[in-house]
Amino acid sequence: MIDKIHKLLGEISEISAESLEEVEQLRLKYLSKKGSVSALFDDFRSVPPEKKREVGQLLNELKNQVQGKIDTLKAGFESIENKADKVSDLTRPVTLEPGTRHPLSIVRNQIIEIFSHLGYTVAVGPEIEDDWHNFSALNFPPEHPARDMQDTFFIARDPEILLRTHTSSVQIRTMEKTQPPIRMIFPGRVFRNEAISARAHCIFHQVEGLYIDKNVSFADLKQTLLYFAREMFGENTQIRLRPSYFPFTEPSGEMDVSCNICGGVGCNICKYTGWVEILGCGMVDPNVLDNCGIDSNVYTGFAFGMGIERITMLKYQIKDLRLFFENDMRFLRQFSGTI
Ligand code: DAH
Repeated sequence: MIDKIHKLLGEISEISAESLEEVEQLRLKYLSKKGSVSALFDDFRSVPPEKKREVGQLLNELKNQVQGKIDTLKAGFESIENKADKVSDLTRPVTLEPGTRHPLSIVRNQIIEIFSHLGYTVAVGPEIEDDWHNFSALNFPPEHPARDMQDTFFIARDPEILLRTHTSSVQIRTMEKTQPPIRMIFPGRVFRNEAISARAHCIFHQVEGLYIDKNVSFADLKQTLLYFAREMFGENTQIRLRPSYFPFTEPSGEMDVSCNICGGVGCNICKYTGWVEILGCGMVDPNVLDNCGIDSNVYTGFAFGMGIERITMLKYQIKDLRLFFENDMRFLRQFSGTI
């Protein structure tokens, strides 16, 4: 009897199976009522009492080993079957839901693309600024009333440190470390302490442009902006420049584009004027060049600044600025597929 058990122990250490059916056959062969292990348990009755303990232990070990081996083989086949199930149909359509770009990112990228065709490169600057880069170097003297036009958020009651109110600060940072020629745009987020409404927000986005070289003229500025407006709003777009005031440009202007919604006939977007304002611009004030270590006797240049929200609202006929910040999927999904 002991020999038989040892023989079976040797046998089952070698068993293998090619399929789940073969595992089942092995189970029947050893463990079913008529199986060889069960037969040994039948024989156990005739073992003399003094041997019962030794034989009983061996028999139990045999049974455990057979059971263990069969369980292992079975589990191996089942996990293979599961995996096979998952990869078996490689043509099955996948329900991936790709994200969509935010409309402000779409328009910012378009602006960058348009100016890149004119040789402009991109730089960014910090959102937390000091008074020098946001105001003083841009020719806003202390106590100058133009500072009040930009409702500034100051940090920790320190009037020197603030959230930048415009991306013009990046002009200064660029000119401080680069000598002309400079042809760059500066996209970024800006902050103003304004009540949130359909037309205003305390956080918004701008793109600033700067071109400094010898003999840069107002005509260059006008032609650059005309090119931009036609690329952005369509080739029939007209522009008009109105005189304005900014401390950092002289002369300064504001640019309107012919209303791309009514084609200039008049609608509620352009308030029935046929024109919508999209940016401020001008020739860089010589004081600003000198503040940054650029010789204003040698170089001239122009600058402009536009709000990305404004342009996006015009392009997509969005009437409420707050939609840009609410992350409402019904709004954002409408821009899927746009790059
Ligand atoms: N920084 C101005 C603003 O935020 C916009 C601006 C106007 C930028 C004229 C310029 C400029 O570069 O020349 O209101």
